[in-house]
Amino acid sequence: MNPFVTNTYRGPAYFIDRKRETALLIDAVKNDRNLTLFSHRRLGKTMLLHHAFSLLDQNRYTTLFIDLFATRNLVHFAQKMSEVLYERKILHQSKFSKILGSLGASVSFDPITGNPQINFNITERSAVLKSLPQIFKLLSESGKKVIVAFDEFQEVNHYEEEFAEASIRTLMQEFPEIVFLFSGSKKSIMREIFTDANRPFFQSTQMMELHEIEQDIYENEIFLILERFHKKYDQFVIRQILNDTYCHTGYTQMVLSRIFNESEGEIDFPLYEQVGCDLLENYKIMHRE
Ligand SMILES: Nc1ncnc2c1ncn2[C@@H]1O[C@H](COP(=O)(O)OP(=O)(O)O)[C@@H](O)[C@H]1O
Ligand SMILES: [Mg+2]
Repeated sequence: MNPFVTNTYRGPAYFIDRKRETALLIDAVKNDRNLTLFSHRRLGKTMLLHHAFSLLDQNRYTTLFIDLFATRNLVHFAQKMSEVLYERKILHQSKFSKILGSLGASVSFDPITGNPQINFNITERSAVLKSLPQIFKLLSESGKKVIVAFDEFQEVNHYEEEFAEASIRTLMQEFPEIVFLFSGSKKSIMREIFTDANRPFFQSTQMMELHEIEQDIYENEIFLILERFHKKYDQFVIRQILNDTYCHTGYTQMVLSRIFNESEGEIDFPLYEQVGCDLLENYKIMHRE
């Protein structure tokens, strides 16, 4: 098994550092503070949210992770929200089905992943919008503390409805018992949404920017993981990888993952030269903007 995960959260044993950030997030959740998490792409926002959620007692908290990537309007927003709720079976089923039914929504299953897909009739926009507060009301009656994380929230900035932000902000105000976390990658857009005095979300959340993991900490945790996996390594190679990848988590983990895969014996400089360098080149080409 490869300890350097590159897409899914696989538990605290493979999660590097972020102790301070995790504590901050958990503190916000426990003290009913809404929070906005922002940083450049692939620094670890999504993983951090999953990590923090995994530490919350599932008997007391309902944690919902809603990925808004590629949503273009509030109907999509409601759709994503409903899919997660449907899959997790958190809501009173008959009440939830009634809401979905009244919207003429149909449920289908993705043939590959098996995930439910809920299709709303887009022409029923106003009905879909009215359903959102009903869905949140059901959620708030679920008996546990509810935490909703909206990932890729910068998408809201381009929603077709001019009142999209205001509608979501109103939900937040109507359900103060629910904690809302907003996460997004376009730093400037995220800042504008939450700090522009003329916009609905102005000063409504605690702002938290995610930075690179500190190199010393990162290095030590990699050593520990490699030792746990009985893998021989040259410390200087690891240091070089962290330097070459600027400790940019997504980037660093990808190189570590490849190196680990390719290593039969020790992780040393010849191996890094063999696999690492063209990886770095590819990455640079991929991310040239
Ligand atoms: N603390 C961490 N420990 C180990 N891997 C991480 C950590 N944070 C992020 N990653 C890895 O880096 C990549 C990017 O992280 P992600 O959370 O998707 O970034 P973002 O949401 O900011 O774009 C993923 O492959 C993820 O597995
Ligand atoms: Mg993400």
